[in-house]
Amino acid sequence: MKSSRIPGFYKMAVEERRELLQNMEWISDDETEYLFSKEPLQVETADKMIENVIGTFPLPLGLGLNFLINEKEYVVPMAIEEPSVVASASHIAKIVRDAGGFSTEATERDMIGQIQVVGCSDYRAAKQVLLDAKETLIKEANAAYPSIVARGGGAKDIDVRILNEEADSLYNQMLVFHLYINTCDAMGANIINTMAESLAPTIEELTGGKVYLRILSNYADRCLAKARCVIPPKLLATGDFTGEEVRDGVIHAYEFAASDPYRAVTHNKGIMNGIDPVVIATGNDWRAVEAGAHAYAVRHGQYSSMTTWKADENGNLVGELELPMSIGTVGGAIRVHPISQMAHKLLDIHSAQELSQVIVAVGLAQNLGALKALVTDGIQKGHMALHSRSVAIAAGATGEMIDIIAERLRDEKEIRVGKAKELVEEYKK
Ligand code: MEV
Repeated sequence: MKSSRIPGFYKMAVEERRELLQNMEWISDDETEYLFSKEPLQVETADKMIENVIGTFPLPLGLGLNFLINEKEYVVPMAIEEPSVVASASHIAKIVRDAGGFSTEATERDMIGQIQVVGCSDYRAAKQVLLDAKETLIKEANAAYPSIVARGGGAKDIDVRILNEEADSLYNQMLVFHLYINTCDAMGANIINTMAESLAPTIEELTGGKVYLRILSNYADRCLAKARCVIPPKLLATGDFTGEEVRDGVIHAYEFAASDPYRAVTHNKGIMNGIDPVVIATGNDWRAVEAGAHAYAVRHGQYSSMTTWKADENGNLVGELELPMSIGTVGGAIRVHPISQMAHKLLDIHSAQELSQVIVAVGLAQNLGALKALVTDGIQKGHMALHSRSVAIAAGATGEMIDIIAERLRDEKEIRVGKAKELVEEYKK
């Protein structure tokens, strides 16, 4: 049966993991072939994706396990170079799973196209003319990209603002026109930019001004996804720390990030540690997601925590994460990158709304993983445990030997391959 709970996955050899995924029907024979292939992204394909190509740049692809989101099982492909991230997300996903799983939701996927108009003789009059022409402008925008309308999306609404009405220079007074476009399952950059560009001549004609920028906004605050988890403290107990101590530590850590931008940046970096790898593995534009997420974190005026952590009336730890999620499940690199196609299959995702909900659930898990470590043993202990295992494996340790050698390396405070090789030899004797 398809389950994201796979005990001992981390101890298996890579090939065993692939075989298991196939046996569990997470991936098919074809997809396994991509994984085994020496060059999953062929240089010929890469050469069609960007310019001046000289090769490809592989990243480790791991699986976030144990994710139960809205009662559905997910194994989550994560492309990332940083150790501990995948282990930490999976560890927290297990805890949340035991607490009933993540609950998530997403808004409609209304993206924003911006048009900048300058040089109007009367900005208020120009604004009114555009507002009065709303239906015509929406129709004209949709005519520029009929296929998205056929899919049930398209331009739906507009908004007009005057910036710097009390202008102190000719340059800073402007009118900003927003076109709200439902891009369905596409991230939608091409749809939005095409529509924005197509409206420019009409907007110049209506306002008597001059249009400069015609571009999407990555601050997709009408395309939000939200994840929530409620964890009884007993599931948080670790080592010598009670669940209540961990819960309180996490809430104190959150309050720190909520009040101090210096901490909030690092706290949020930890959240993006979970989000970016999924965005990358699914062939999406992680710079767009990063930019939107950080802007959303400053929406109340001060840069702050993306997540919230509180205790409810029963003493449970309640975490929430809401972010703009300008990602897609069709188009762009997804169509051409074989690994990203496989990532979508592995996730068994049926819409961009669904993918965006998985992404915020991983971000929330990643944040709790970091905070739980930080308020208990500190993050180095976990890092060192994982690092010592990799060193043991690099020195030739296999099976049960790995954990024994790794522990010796940590005990003897000498985590290096040379030392590990000596221990492997000793063990074999
Ligand atoms: C490291 O990549 C991420 C953390 O610094 C996040 C945090 O401090 O919350 C551990």
